[in-house]
Amino acid sequence: MIIAVDGPTASGKGTIAKRLAAHFGVPCLDTGLLYRAVGRQVAINEGDPDNPAEALAACAFPDELLDDEVLRTEESGGLASRVSVHPEVREALFKRQRAFAEQPGGAVLDGRDIGTVIAPDADVKLFITASVQSRARRRWMEMVDKKLDHEEEIPLSEIEKDVVARDARDINRKDAPLKAAPDAFVIDTTSLDREQAFEMVLETVEEALKNR
Ligand code: DC
Repeated sequence: MIIAVDGPTASGKGTIAKRLAAHFGVPCLDTGLLYRAVGRQVAINEGDPDNPAEALAACAFPDELLDDEVLRTEESGGLASRVSVHPEVREALFKRQRAFAEQPGGAVLDGRDIGTVIAPDADVKLFITASVQSRARRRWMEMVDKKLDHEEEIPLSEIEKDVVARDARDINRKDAPLKAAPDAFVIDTTSLDREQAFEMVLETVEEALKNR
């Protein structure tokens, strides 16, 4: 059983994916972390994230980098979004994601192109979204909680601008842009809290699995 969870930045898809995986007892892969590791490795190499060859070279990042808290920062998210436009980077990360999806016991993967490119054969596809304002507010509150990057000093309006820029880059890139698969269930969590959002997701997934 493969469950694909896609959606824009700060939509809550990561939390939803982890909870779904725990509910069904299967492993979960946050594919954004792979792109974040590539972006961070480019920075470590003092390279240019917009240069395809330098971004590709950074795909050979050490596995330990995936555990580094620095990947959670806004800066790493921005770098990830920039390296992710290069088709050669997407290709280099494809096998690892596909192998994860094909585990015998099943898996949950979250990202931007899971339902469209990595696992078009997924049993259930979800596209989790919310308004720019509510995603920016959630990201901002998360930052204040975690105090990463001294991020509590960043005003909400700046975060909103960043969310808009990330959306534009993820949606407009040529290769595997952010979009809902035609057979995905689109769930808008703007007016839902975490608990309500997960309840709605679980109901949708259980119903879809029944009707498979
Ligand atoms: O989900 P996230 O914020 O950790 O993702 C960071 C960036 O990585 C995102 O802006 C675009 C890229 N990404 C991608 O292109 N494809 C994925 N499956 C996951 C992330």
